[in-house]
Amino acid sequence: MSAENEGDMLCFFINGKKVTEKNADPETMLLSFLREKLRLTGTKSGCGGGGCGACTVMVSRYQPATKTIMHFSANACLLPLCSLQGAAVTTVEGVGSTKSRIHPVQERIAKAHGSQCGFCTPGMVMSMYTLLRNKPQPSMEDITQHLAGNLCRCTGYRPIIDGCRTFCQEENCCQATGAGDCCLNGDTNDDEAEHEKPRLFNKEEFLPLDPSQEIIFPPELILMSESASPQSLTFQGERMRWVSPSSLQELLQLKTRNPAAPLVMGNTNIGPDIKFKGTVHPLIISPTRVMELFEVTQTPQGVWVGAGCSLSELQSLLEKLLLQSPQEKTELFRALIQQLGNLGSQQIRNVASLGGHIMSAFPNSDLNPVLAAGSCRVSVISNGGRREVPLDQNFFVRDSAFCLYSLLQEGGVCPSFPTGSEEGEQLLHGDHRDEGVLLRGVSVVQDVSIYYGGMGPTTVSASKTCQAIISRRWDEETLSRAYDVLLEELVLPPSAPGGKVEFRRSLTLSFLFKFNLEVLQRLRDMNVITDEVPEKMQPLPKEIQPSLQEFQSQSEQDPVGRPMMHRSALSQATGEAVYCDDIPTTDGELFLALVTSSRAKARITGLDVSEALQLPGVVDKVREMCGYEEELLAESEVSCVGQMLCAVLADTRAHARRGAAAVKVGYEDLPEPIFTTEEAIEKSSFYEPLRSIERGNVTEAFKTVDQIHEGEFRMGGQEHFYMETQSMLVVPVGEETEFNVYVSSQYLSFTQDAIAETLGIPSNRVMCHVKRIGGAFGGKVFKTAILACITSVAAWKTNRAVRCVLERGEDMLITGGRHPVLAKYKVGFMHDGRIVAADIQTNLPSNTAFRGFGVPQGLMVLENMINDVAMALGRPADQIREMNMYEGPSITHYKFAFSPENLRRCWQECKEKCEFSARRSAVQEFNLQHRWRKRGMAIVPVKFGLAFSESFLNQAAALVHIYKDGSVLVSHGGTEMGQGLHTKMQQVASRELHIPASKIYISETSTNTVPNTSPSGGSYGTDANGMAVKDACQILYQRLEPIRKKNPKGSWESWVMAAFLDKISLSVTGFYRGPDLYMDWEKMEGQPYAYFTFGVCCCEVELDCLTGDYRTVRTDIVADIGKSVNPSMDIGQIEGAFMQGLGLFTLEELKFSPAGLLYTRGPSQYKIPAVCDVPLHFNVYLLSDSDNPHAIYSSKGIGEPVLFLGSTAFFAIKDAVSAARSDSGLFGPFSLNSPATPERICLACASPLTQKIPASKPGSFTPWALNI
Ligand SMILES: Cc1cc2nc3c(=O)[nH]c(=O)nc-3n(C[C@H](O)[C@H](O)[C@H](O)COP(=O)(O)OP(=O)(O)OC[C@H]3O[C@@H](n4cnc5c(N)ncnc54)[C@H](O)[C@@H]3O)c2cc1C
Ligand code: FES
Ligand code: FES
Repeated sequence: MSAENEGDMLCFFINGKKVTEKNADPETMLLSFLREKLRLTGTKSGCGGGGCGACTVMVSRYQPATKTIMHFSANACLLPLCSLQGAAVTTVEGVGSTKSRIHPVQERIAKAHGSQCGFCTPGMVMSMYTLLRNKPQPSMEDITQHLAGNLCRCTGYRPIIDGCRTFCQEENCCQATGAGDCCLNGDTNDDEAEHEKPRLFNKEEFLPLDPSQEIIFPPELILMSESASPQSLTFQGERMRWVSPSSLQELLQLKTRNPAAPLVMGNTNIGPDIKFKGTVHPLIISPTRVMELFEVTQTPQGVWVGAGCSLSELQSLLEKLLLQSPQEKTELFRALIQQLGNLGSQQIRNVASLGGHIMSAFPNSDLNPVLAAGSCRVSVISNGGRREVPLDQNFFVRDSAFCLYSLLQEGGVCPSFPTGSEEGEQLLHGDHRDEGVLLRGVSVVQDVSIYYGGMGPTTVSASKTCQAIISRRWDEETLSRAYDVLLEELVLPPSAPGGKVEFRRSLTLSFLFKFNLEVLQRLRDMNVITDEVPEKMQPLPKEIQPSLQEFQSQSEQDPVGRPMMHRSALSQATGEAVYCDDIPTTDGELFLALVTSSRAKARITGLDVSEALQLPGVVDKVREMCGYEEELLAESEVSCVGQMLCAVLADTRAHARRGAAAVKVGYEDLPEPIFTTEEAIEKSSFYEPLRSIERGNVTEAFKTVDQIHEGEFRMGGQEHFYMETQSMLVVPVGEETEFNVYVSSQYLSFTQDAIAETLGIPSNRVMCHVKRIGGAFGGKVFKTAILACITSVAAWKTNRAVRCVLERGEDMLITGGRHPVLAKYKVGFMHDGRIVAADIQTNLPSNTAFRGFGVPQGLMVLENMINDVAMALGRPADQIREMNMYEGPSITHYKFAFSPENLRRCWQECKEKCEFSARRSAVQEFNLQHRWRKRGMAIVPVKFGLAFSESFLNQAAALVHIYKDGSVLVSHGGTEMGQGLHTKMQQVASRELHIPASKIYISETSTNTVPNTSPSGGSYGTDANGMAVKDACQILYQRLEPIRKKNPKGSWESWVMAAFLDKISLSVTGFYRGPDLYMDWEKMEGQPYAYFTFGVCCCEVELDCLTGDYRTVRTDIVADIGKSVNPSMDIGQIEGAFMQGLGLFTLEELKFSPAGLLYTRGPSQYKIPAVCDVPLHFNVYLLSDSDNPHAIYSSKGIGEPVLFLGSTAFFAIKDAVSAARSDSGLFGPFSLNSPATPERICLACASPLTQKIPASKPGSFTPWALNI
């Protein structure tokens, strides 16, 4: 071992190149090393906590024992640099490049339109690449499993899946090409026209996958690992020391001398603790080179698995064992495999160790309840020797003292799995997360073991319930008694951490109930009982099927109107695309970290930065702040948790963040903070002016109606969760207070103006630039500008470049998202379903812009009201919707005349395409046959207005240069944020200039090329900027006309050169003066939109009423977007927006503490849709033969309108819940708030089990989370 304080040399490979690092810091993760040290910026940072997959890399290791090379994907953000000794890392740059050869994975994801903003794309590529390295012809299940840990906020996943699907073996049949009928089913599609339908991509042009072309594992590492005499390794960092012993003996000694030092295996528990909780461990022990920890031994009692084995190794081992032993001996293995399939992502399972998992003793562990119920044992070792202990409730309770202080696992923790059972003994298990049940015995129960996760600080045993079951017959009476005992035994206080108390308690019963159904089914299968089993529990369907995309396409010659790949997709897939934080650092650059308020409403009594300024690398602070409209840094009072107070500047981001953490803030709490909508209403805390629109005489109308229904609907807010967090870099130019600002903003001019005003300089000194942004969805307008102001002040103060990139948690805490809504309504309707009067009241202002700008909230309330009317009348909701839908020449409630013809067409077409009537009957049939599984269906329309009612925003400019070689540079005022705006502008310029798109380049958006830009928002980017680009190109084309006439057969290049020689200007500014729109709130009328985009969506879901889990079985969307400029982009926007809406209405839930602190600050707590949430059939049809005189080339804006269609999943769920309720004898309207989370769904189903849970008395306790 090296001498104290002296570090060893770390040696590993990246993309085939050797890396040696003398001073490897144990706190450095591979991600920052790649990005900051090696400038390999293709690997992205989206969350820093293993939850988003943006940082995925492939790690390869040579295994001397088997002489094999193992490849696995891992999250670079949690991979300590020091753990990489002897490993070969492949990043997206090592997979392929546009300069040499792109890899088929990169090509297929790009060409299948699977890359929009592109921020997630390198991670997707790496997950898929690793899968292909291990399995060149994967199945669809492999693909979905390997992509499950990679989040994408833009695409809706369908195109990514379609690109990856082309590697599947079964792909080469007609089913996988989206042709509908399948040869595998024996169907043939005789309709030739069907085959001529335009497709989004042509897989015939894809490069074949050739595994022989892959980068080889470095022979030097093989030699190193075979010849090296094992020696311990030490790496010394600024605050931590890393020791990696080479033998069990050394490990024991080290642990005995340093009982508090953690053992780091996968670092998926320790890593987030260090990062997010600021834990510092002076010593870290890394036992990954102790061979005993990886041993696997089979014995007659079971299999001993080394604690160091990763969870995916465990999974593969168990899968192999399944094949070797009869089913009755492998019940536990099956249960574990099932749990492992749901545990984290592939990347997490690849590194997380079994020992680390057990010893972490998470309350929500997916494995521990099953291990405990399976009577697994653990072999532990310490200086005192080796012992075997049962892995039971006591083990988890005493674990912290036990493991941290005295004991070290031999092979660490080795659970044994009982594979054998005595004659007549049955081992059965529940298939439910967080629960493990084992039952021995048949009609009279001899032994049962029940463990739950999520019901206490660690895995808990329901021992009293077991006692109530043992020695009794397994029948209804025993079960009923067991429920009662269970309810008494496992009690959660109403304010238990994690909340959802009633739901969690009801799940304990549901799981036992489900287990009973399984037992009965098993007993029946074995002919032990003959009675019919009430219902066979099947897992929810999960196989994603090929989908359909229908659109009309223009001729091959026309660059407009046909699918065209995002112009940066290949750069994005190879990691070459440059985002703000990928810009190389400049000399002397500083990093800015923010100090934010930990109080919701308080006076600041002191702010002490002295300690922070003493820390290594800390250079300065920014506190005093001239404001731009609002107070940029709170001076004397704070009004929310997360409000910015001060900024610390340091030489590195780690130093800046440590500096910020060391700033001491004193507070004096102020009375009566307001958190909930109810409190705001009670205290009349409203933004003025309050606005309302009333049409007709509502009071009188209520007198004429047959029925009146009053309801209330609550809808939670939503976090943008753009994959690229807020990022900016401000570079002082050095003279005359001029600044270059690189900023991920969707509204550059606003940022420019804000900075200029804050610094007190004219706008002409502030050049704002943006090349692309990694998603925005409305969240990169206002807060971005404020952050840019603070960063600019820092740059101005220090006269050095300053970079600010928020961490995911900070971003979620600071920036605010979609606003929540509480609505109360009263609706009057006739017996036939016509709605005659409605009175609606909503509260709370918008937090900030978010795709749809408040429209989805308003529409949601209305559609929910319509649903209530349908339920009150006992009629299908689609009939009520259709009956009350606009028809013929119509006017809106704000007196805007329009034609709803295309809305009606979408409605009809959607009903036909999705075979609504037939499937509705099938759903009813399904529901009759199933008590605990229900299906639901809904069809919902949307009408969405486009363009800005603030009329001055409806303008755009473009600057087009033609260079002497004929190449064209287009600049316009819109931001490329994944929506494909630059690609569409390229198509426009290509059509207008009559040249191929390849001659046209768009470098960036900047305020010094196009001034006074409007925000890229409201789905208006193409409409406005497209017209400006068109204008500029038309002027240029006309200028060239005399030259063309002179030489009609000349080439584009020859005309351009001739024009130059003839002194004709080849640079033009185009301008678009958009429509004059307005809204007069006094008169309650206006023309706030230029036109409407229409869409209709039908969703079918399947629900597990016992757990509230659901799956969208099928989605069909028909959208009227006029004549699409680029169907691949527009379909991508439709799918992405739908999925974001599905997240809003069914998944994404923001949770705040009673003190106003946002709990949900990362993907582990805030769930956005992942691959596993994609509808199994996801079909999109663009309405044919539609025109729109109000936008470029008769197209329509689409990014925002269809987000609301995600609500269809909500209403389908509500439909399924309604079916479940009717089985419980409950009919008529009921309340289901948004998002429809499993908790809400399960409780709304009101099964006899949930009804057993006593409701906590409101006001008698402080809930863990607020109902905002
Ligand atoms: C993004 C993400 C998603 C996740 N999702 C899930 C999920 O869905 N379900 C679920 O159940 N879990 C989930 N987890 C938790 C994950 O399973 C655990 O973090 C992981 O199993 C811990 O293993 P590790 O090797 O990474 O532990 P490390 O972080 O390396 O160590 C954890 C602890 O275990 C101790 N330890 C490690 N090895 C030994 C040993 N041999 N002997 C004694 N002590 C030891 C260490 O001292 C340390 O205290 C998730 C984690 C992350 C980061
Ligand atoms: S950045 Fe690593 S998983 Fe999100
Ligand atoms: S393309 Fe996936 S996050 Fe933007």
